Amino acid sequence: MFDNNQIFAAPLAGVTDRPFRRIVRQFAPDARIVTEMISCHSLVGGHKNCLRNFDRYDDEGAVGAQIFGADVALMADAARILQDAGAKWIDINMGCPVPKVATRAGAGAFLMRDHRLAGDIMRAVVRAVEIPVSIKTRLGWDDSHKDWRELIDIAADCGVSFAALHGRTRAQLYVGPSVSPDVHGCPIPVVANGDIKYADDVLRMAQLGYCGVMIGRAMLGRPWILGELAGRPGPNNVGDVVRQHLEYSVEYYGARTAVPMFRKHAAWYSAGMPNSAEFRIKVNRITDADELRAAIDEFWGCDLAA
Ligand SMILES: Cc1cc2nc3c(=O)[nH]c(=O)nc-3n(C[C@H](O)[C@H](O)[C@H](O)COP(=O)(O)O)c2cc1C
Repeated sequence: MFDNNQIFAAPLAGVTDRPFRRIVRQFAPDARIVTEMISCHSLVGGHKNCLRNFDRYDDEGAVGAQIFGADVALMADAARILQDAGAKWIDINMGCPVPKVATRAGAGAFLMRDHRLAGDIMRAVVRAVEIPVSIKTRLGWDDSHKDWRELIDIAADCGVSFAALHGRTRAQLYVGPSVSPDVHGCPIPVVANGDIKYADDVLRMAQLGYCGVMIGRAMLGRPWILGELAGRPGPNNVGDVVRQHLEYSVEYYGARTAVPMFRKHAAWYSAGMPNSAEFRIKVNRITDADELRAAIDEFWGCDLAA
């Protein structure tokens, strides 16, 4: 997992669910893919309204389950549950900037401000499982607190196996360029994250000392990008991918939930194509799976059933 030039799919809440991961793997079977962030409270509490609390990962390839929370014991319990469910590694979220997570819950990016709590969580999670543990973090809280290196040193002391580093601060959210620092000399391997889209970016990150890259938003509407970066071919017909993704989503969530959830994917897949605005408006009104199938087939001119 920690050889050089590894390509990871970033955790994206609302996106890197099981159906999406299946699609990514069709183009990049070896990709390391991180799940959407999973609340330790929701997981340990077995909250039934959250399907991913019941995911099993045995039949998936290299999938890391990402947890978030601020409760040391619950984070350790959550890690154990996910290990038992077949996750190949546990990733601790130390970068999520949204207020619900970072300020109200004292989790995610807040852990960059509280290194003692961050250390306690990392140590407890590492002790709780036999699989590797990683962290995903940012440069720091804001421009005056870019202490990513300190956190990575603590992570190494706690037995964390590797870190993913997003080249923005918490204050930057997702705005402005991501600037990845030189990581030569870090005590554990570091994966670069932030605005990585092209083979050139991958090369540049290797030169800065990163052991791999983690792709986030560039996967939206282009789930084959990880495969392409690894030198594999993209799809012959995007419409076939869209239909397959929809079928996986219907299978997983059921049509009632899957159809509205799929609108954002339909928008990303069609972005920049002729008549995409009309397609989006049409799809946003559709509530029935067969109607959505027909709209996709019409837009991309394909028919999986044929
Ligand atoms: C819609 C969305 C959802 C995200 N969800 C998560 C998440 O669940 N856990 C996490 O650590 N980061 C999350 N992120 C951050 C990404 O993993 C990544 O760090 C960020 O998008 C920068 O990488 P990129 O420029 O390649 O997109 C999310 C970002 C977006 C845009």
